[in-house]
Amino acid sequence: MSAFAVDPTVPRTNAADIAAALKDPGFGRYFVDFMAMATWSRADGWHDRALVATGPLSLHPALSGLHYGQQIFEGLKAYRHPDDSVWLFRPEKNAARFAHSATRMQMAPLPVDDFIESVTKVVEQSLDWVPQPEGEQSLYLRPFMFASENQIGVKASDFYTYICLGMPVMPFYPEPLKLWVSPTFSRSMAGGTGDAKCGGNYGASMIAEDEAHRNGCTQVLWLDSATRSWVEEGGTMNFLVVTADGELVTPELNGQILAGVTRDSLLKLASAHGLRPRERPLAFTELVEGITSGHITEAFACGTAAVVSPVVTIRSPELDLTVGDGQPGAKTLELRGHLTGIQFGTEPDERGWMRRVG
Ligand SMILES: Cc1ncc(COP(=O)(O)O)c(C=O)c1O
Repeated sequence: MSAFAVDPTVPRTNAADIAAALKDPGFGRYFVDFMAMATWSRADGWHDRALVATGPLSLHPALSGLHYGQQIFEGLKAYRHPDDSVWLFRPEKNAARFAHSATRMQMAPLPVDDFIESVTKVVEQSLDWVPQPEGEQSLYLRPFMFASENQIGVKASDFYTYICLGMPVMPFYPEPLKLWVSPTFSRSMAGGTGDAKCGGNYGASMIAEDEAHRNGCTQVLWLDSATRSWVEEGGTMNFLVVTADGELVTPELNGQILAGVTRDSLLKLASAHGLRPRERPLAFTELVEGITSGHITEAFACGTAAVVSPVVTIRSPELDLTVGDGQPGAKTLELRGHLTGIQFGTEPDERGWMRRVG
């Protein structure tokens, strides 16, 4: 396997311009100088691994990924620690999920080693772009892959292009969430792509997000498409609740839910906070009755971009519920603090989740 070779001619952004970008990076507004690239063909497998200048691609309009949606992506972050070292959080989980998404979309899985090396090298070449941890800023990595055969015709592509971009970011949803239960739209279905991170899932969800906004909510609480009685996810995040008797409950991974790295990490941290983790079906009626009776004391959504976002409202055409006292819950904030403490190097990393890059 050839390594991702760094193109030495790529121009580097000067320190003053990086400092200006890091003052208010937003999310996905500024990009680091290098991106990783690799190509797959049916004849040669993965090849042409390189770190090149981040910049426009020249694409033929018949590129099959533009027509038939063979496209997948990932999201993970690099964090600066108090001693200035830079670390990735559980990148092997994203590598495995990327391969899973590729398999579901009949694309060529990128080997785990290539995924980790490409992400690591983008960070290594971008250490000046990794923000100081104030305000929980970090460097977001966006590995993605698309079908790159120039051919109109529905079939699995004979060529794929892999790219990993890097960008400094703030956390995504700084405000507590109000979730909208759509009477109309669904995110996934049995046998569908709910547990793959493919662009089509997100394209199909935007109409429901717009409906949520028109109803005064920030994001959608997704229910199962067949019966609309089971809770699945919250926006582009996993959904969890805390009960009065000390359970941390989240819908089990049933093929229709994305297996979040944050979700998995929080379930593993639960016991340190006096919570018993439970992955099981969560009925919407149980959620409504639990919030109404006070048995469910807290709700939150979690993901890499958003970290942990407290949920304070659940709204549908029929109901408008306030979770707890309408403020972020104590356990939610404890779990958030613990996880971000590990990521930013202020809490012990007892499970070896962090991987040093620079
Ligand atoms: C649909 C969906 N669910 C859940 C998540 C959370 O996953 P993770 O914690 O790995 O970021 C994401 C974000 O990647 C997502 O897009």
